[in-house]
Amino acid sequence: MTTLIRKAIYTREDEDALVADGCEWNFHNEETKEHIHSLHPYPAKFIPQIPRRAIELWTEPGDIVYDPFNGCGTTILEASIAGRHGIGTDNNAVAILASRAKAALYSKTDLDALGRFATRIKGGLDFAASRPDLIPSNKNFHYWFDPAIIARLAALKGLILAENEPVRTLLLAVFSSIIVRVSYQDSDTRYSRILRKVAADEVDKAFGSRLTDTIARIPDAMVPGRVPVDVVQADARSVPFIADGSVSLIVTSPPYLNSYDYHKYHRQRLHWIGDEGSVEFARDREIGSHDEFTRHDATPEGYFEDMGACFAEWTRVLKKGGSCLIVVGDSIVSKQAVHVGDKFVDMLVEHGLSYKKRWIRTLHSTKRAFNVKNSRISHEHVLLLVKP
Ligand SMILES: C[S@@+](CC[C@H](N)C(=O)[O-])C[C@H]1O[C@@H](n2cnc3c(N)ncnc32)[C@H](O)[C@@H]1O
Repeated sequence: MTTLIRKAIYTREDEDALVADGCEWNFHNEETKEHIHSLHPYPAKFIPQIPRRAIELWTEPGDIVYDPFNGCGTTILEASIAGRHGIGTDNNAVAILASRAKAALYSKTDLDALGRFATRIKGGLDFAASRPDLIPSNKNFHYWFDPAIIARLAALKGLILAENEPVRTLLLAVFSSIIVRVSYQDSDTRYSRILRKVAADEVDKAFGSRLTDTIARIPDAMVPGRVPVDVVQADARSVPFIADGSVSLIVTSPPYLNSYDYHKYHRQRLHWIGDEGSVEFARDREIGSHDEFTRHDATPEGYFEDMGACFAEWTRVLKKGGSCLIVVGDSIVSKQAVHVGDKFVDMLVEHGLSYKKRWIRTLHSTKRAFNVKNSRISHEHVLLLVKP
């Protein structure tokens, strides 16, 4: 039991050797919030250096790079910058919005339009027409927001919807990024209600400052040779739209078992930015959620079944010789250690991939995003497999 508390890494291999070797994936002293990567808060997102290194090592310009658990699009943006074609799937509409906004190819005209929008709202949103038609109508919605904030957010959304693409998507992503901050939700990783006083102009200030920051970051990602990305709202267990043998590299970080509920913590955002049914779409397809695996009699089998379906798809879409780099943590379910890293290696080998190498990387002490009780937080596995 000491091991569980010490580092919560469980492996049959020589752990010390794996940790020592893992430092090449740590990037502790590097800038991890470069350019537009920090557009939207997203729990457990990659630091860009991980997909960047994998893309450099195992792909060529023009190749396809796939991230099945795309999150806020770190992998596909890195792929696009490196001249590769990134494909990302995620079941959560917030992930889809954030990644489309991050990875869009902005022109000087778009930047000018964004600048004009920022100038227009500089003095506040009092001028914006009220838009009661844009207020989400779901039950309990008012429990999470001050009424004045709801009116302000709807008015702001009205202004955003009047813009053209890709400016509209970028503005909506910035809008989504401030939702938790102006709501009664405690934080991005705590779904409890804190009844605090939020002044209506908090919307104006939070949105204005995030937008200004984002506009300043966009030019750094406007590099020559960028390739458009495909972001698809889909369940990673079934991706028939990706052709057999087409992908050169899968680089991904799956949802960690029993660590997080993306559908829940993003729920207020989903109500504001998603279509009808997007909360259910995210909830009903989420793999490994804390809600599901924290039940007193829970066992991890369902998680491995779901991941098995994904692994079958990965084996299908990878080219011969294509690589697969997975970053994942171990976990605890019903007080039992779950050796996720070891199990993934065994399963992927059963699916026909060949095991090349593994490392254990250490997370920076200030960047641990998960619930300490249920999952590993200080170390994670980096697994490399290849399709023979
Ligand atoms: C650890 S996060 C990935 C973060 C990502 N690497 C980034 O840099 O933002 C895991 C993601 O898996 C998504 N997810 C969970 N179940 C899924 C499913 N069945 N299909 C596709 N995505 C899923 C979650 O919505 C979440 O965005």
